[in-house]
Amino acid sequence: MQIIHTVAELRTALKNRGHIGFVPTMGNLHAGHIQLVDIAKRHAQCIVVSIFVNPLQFGANEDFSTYPRTFKADCEKLALAGADIVFAPSVKEMYPDFDGKALNQSMTITPPPLAAELCGASRPGHFSGVATVVMKLFNIVMPQIAVFGKKDFQQLLVIKELVKQFNLPIEIIAGETMREPGGLAMSSRNGYLTPEQKTAAAQMQRTLQGIVAEIRQGNHDYPALEKSAIESLSRQGWLVEYVSVRNAFTLEPATEYNTCLVVLAAAKLGNTRLIDNIDFLR
Ligand code: PAJ
Repeated sequence: MQIIHTVAELRTALKNRGHIGFVPTMGNLHAGHIQLVDIAKRHAQCIVVSIFVNPLQFGANEDFSTYPRTFKADCEKLALAGADIVFAPSVKEMYPDFDGKALNQSMTITPPPLAAELCGASRPGHFSGVATVVMKLFNIVMPQIAVFGKKDFQQLLVIKELVKQFNLPIEIIAGETMREPGGLAMSSRNGYLTPEQKTAAAQMQRTLQGIVAEIRQGNHDYPALEKSAIESLSRQGWLVEYVSVRNAFTLEPATEYNTCLVVLAAAKLGNTRLIDNIDFLR
């Protein structure tokens, strides 16, 4: 496995490598990330994994500086998983005009309307940062396929829209959300939780499962289901941002005519912001 830090070296390394499969990450890898590498291997010959904590997608009061950076362990996991190339650029390599606060003289991507709500509402600029870095990484790696996790469901739809709107010749493949035994979605941010919080964190997934069960039993009063889930999580000590039942293709509020649905949630447990979702057919 090659470890590469510059765009120029990556371009050289990628010459004549056949079908390229790409898995973008911010590192601190867990089984959810590795599963995406396994999926990529089924679709491509040369697997590139990027590790880059992207400053553009973090808000001023968010955890950019404390985000867990575990590069050596990540590379060991990726070598075992059979990745061919790790691309780990510096901030300077990715954003030569970035002064630590703002991008000067650089273009950014305006995300599609579906990025405005849910996580986009509470994290202004987040999806612009994600779309910009992913667009740059796509242009650098030029993969035939790229794999993203459903854990970040809204992000997955933003990327699909990016590919569609900019006519990128890249197939986006979705990986299912990998979970801890209790149901908590694996996340690099789970490392911020105390052991007690980690047990309590499974409540979010159980709450979403409860909503799915209700809907499948014929309850289509989505606002009432959302309200009662928010109340229940709040009673258990969560600071809830949203619980929302949406159309799984457009992320518009679900109507009783939609059959492909996704129920999404974001909430804080202590200082740690967690997200989760379930996409399902009703
Ligand atoms: P990161 O949070 O490191 O996630 C990298 C990829 O792994 C994303 O596609 C994410 O959805 C997926 N992933 C995370 N946890 C998962 C889980 N439990 N099960 C399955 N897949 C999971 O998402 C980002 O980084 C960044 O926004 C990025 C796309 C790299 C752009 O900077």
